[in-house]
Amino acid sequence: MSGAQPMFNRSGFLKGLFLAGGGLAAAPAISPFSLMAGEAPGGVASGGLTEPGELDYPVKDLACSLSRPITVAIMGAGGRGRTYARYAEKFPEAMKVVAVSDIRPNRREGTAAKYGIAPDKVFGDFHEMLAAGRIADAMVIALPDDLHYEPAIAAMAQGYDILLEKPMAQTEQECRDLLKRQRETGAIVGVCHVLRYAPYFQALKSALDDGLIGDVISVQHMEPIEYAHMAHSYVRGNWHDSKATTPIILAKSCHDLDIIKWFIGKRCEEVSADGSLIHFRRENMPPGAPARCTDGCPHEATCPYSAIDIYCNKHKHMHVFDLPQGYTREDVMEKLRTTEYGRCVYRCDNDQCDHYVANLRFEGGVTAAFSMEAFTPWGGRRTRVMGTRGFIEGDGGRFDVYDFRTGRKRTWAKKVSEIAAYKGSGHGGGDLALVRDFLMAVDRHDESLLSSSLAASVESHVMGFACEKSRLSGSKAEVRI
Ligand SMILES: NC(=O)c1ccc[n+]([C@@H]2O[C@H](COP(=O)([O-])OP(=O)(O)OC[C@H]3O[C@@H](n4cnc5c(N)ncnc54)[C@H](O)[C@@H]3O)[C@@H](O)[C@H]2O)c1
Repeated sequence: MSGAQPMFNRSGFLKGLFLAGGGLAAAPAISPFSLMAGEAPGGVASGGLTEPGELDYPVKDLACSLSRPITVAIMGAGGRGRTYARYAEKFPEAMKVVAVSDIRPNRREGTAAKYGIAPDKVFGDFHEMLAAGRIADAMVIALPDDLHYEPAIAAMAQGYDILLEKPMAQTEQECRDLLKRQRETGAIVGVCHVLRYAPYFQALKSALDDGLIGDVISVQHMEPIEYAHMAHSYVRGNWHDSKATTPIILAKSCHDLDIIKWFIGKRCEEVSADGSLIHFRRENMPPGAPARCTDGCPHEATCPYSAIDIYCNKHKHMHVFDLPQGYTREDVMEKLRTTEYGRCVYRCDNDQCDHYVANLRFEGGVTAAFSMEAFTPWGGRRTRVMGTRGFIEGDGGRFDVYDFRTGRKRTWAKKVSEIAAYKGSGHGGGDLALVRDFLMAVDRHDESLLSSSLAASVESHVMGFACEKSRLSGSKAEVRI
């Protein structure tokens, strides 16, 4: 180990306090995760873990070698459907988009034009596509949450392999039905737990599997949603109503429960959850706020949730508007006057929690503490893993592995977004890497090539349903797989 004294580093100093002081109880004013905010984790921790080093888990090639191009039908040409279709643009020798279904004419026609889909394979409602029988090797089901179960059951019966968006279904029973049907039909079904395919999460999982920190004893995992994303998706937008879609622990955080379970590699036995909707409620509406931010709201200039600020000034989440090339600010203002995205966040019919915590207990007493937070300036994920020989701390882009015995700290920090093939692949590269593995699994008819098989995903979905049961009942809930 280097004998050099570490330079003073405020972040590291605070982290040292946190780590040495017994965690949350000893440092009530400082969230453990806030110490990781906006800066690379690492720095100088307690115990003199200072020696730098690099971890070289490679980023897998996005291309794949198949016996033939896999033909794919896209059901739902919204944000997700079009994202997965993009693999065919980059790797036409591996994937061909041959059919599309969407109730929005501009989306289905735009997709048809982009991929040269024959007119008789362009459908409106998804039932029309199903009525055409099996017209492709595989189907991507990227419809809204309440429209996953029915087409997935029907498509398996028709002999399709399926890439199925999460949450796979709206109830625990439906999830189990899907698994039963998959076992009966032998279909390859991949669930879109995209984080599992992101090079960052794959490297972190490899570090755990390679025993770099010994046996995992506990995990702290935070999902910062980011204030504007919360307002966009879970107050104004598609997932504002937990009953019409799914509770936020599934709609948003089933990825996180899945990642925690994947990291720990054991069965989850029991959960205890809490959370509520505190802020985005009518009683918190500032005086005189009208129904829409565009209605001359007196608070528009100062409200962090102003739709005018989020969309017109900051240009966030613009894909939902289907705006024409070269659109103007006035085009966006018109969308805010006429769609749900212009509504005052205190006057929406939303019920999703804006904060949610869960304690999870796994086989052998291993534990995880999960925290979903709406009120953060950034999104992504923050994770700490405590092992018997070391510690891992990551911010979604890079992670540090500390070895207690040697005092070494090693870092994984590959810049996936700078790799040409990965450009435009969201979720840290996971979106298109998932498609790559799905196509390989379909080509070889080998489910083991898919990390997020239906069986693995049912387990993490069941954890989500158990969390919601616990949150609503105020007592612990058993997880029965
Ligand atoms: N894996 C992830 O990380 C991730 C991220 C975001 C969303 N999702 C999930 O993906 C799914 C789709 O989300 P999205 O953001 O693409 O939503 P979206 O609204 O952009 O897309 C859904 C599309 O389905 C179409 N549609 C609705 N009803 C239809 C019907 N009856 N027949 C045919 N088309 C119909 C809509 O017109 C829309 O274009 C949701 O279940 C969501 O929870 C997953």
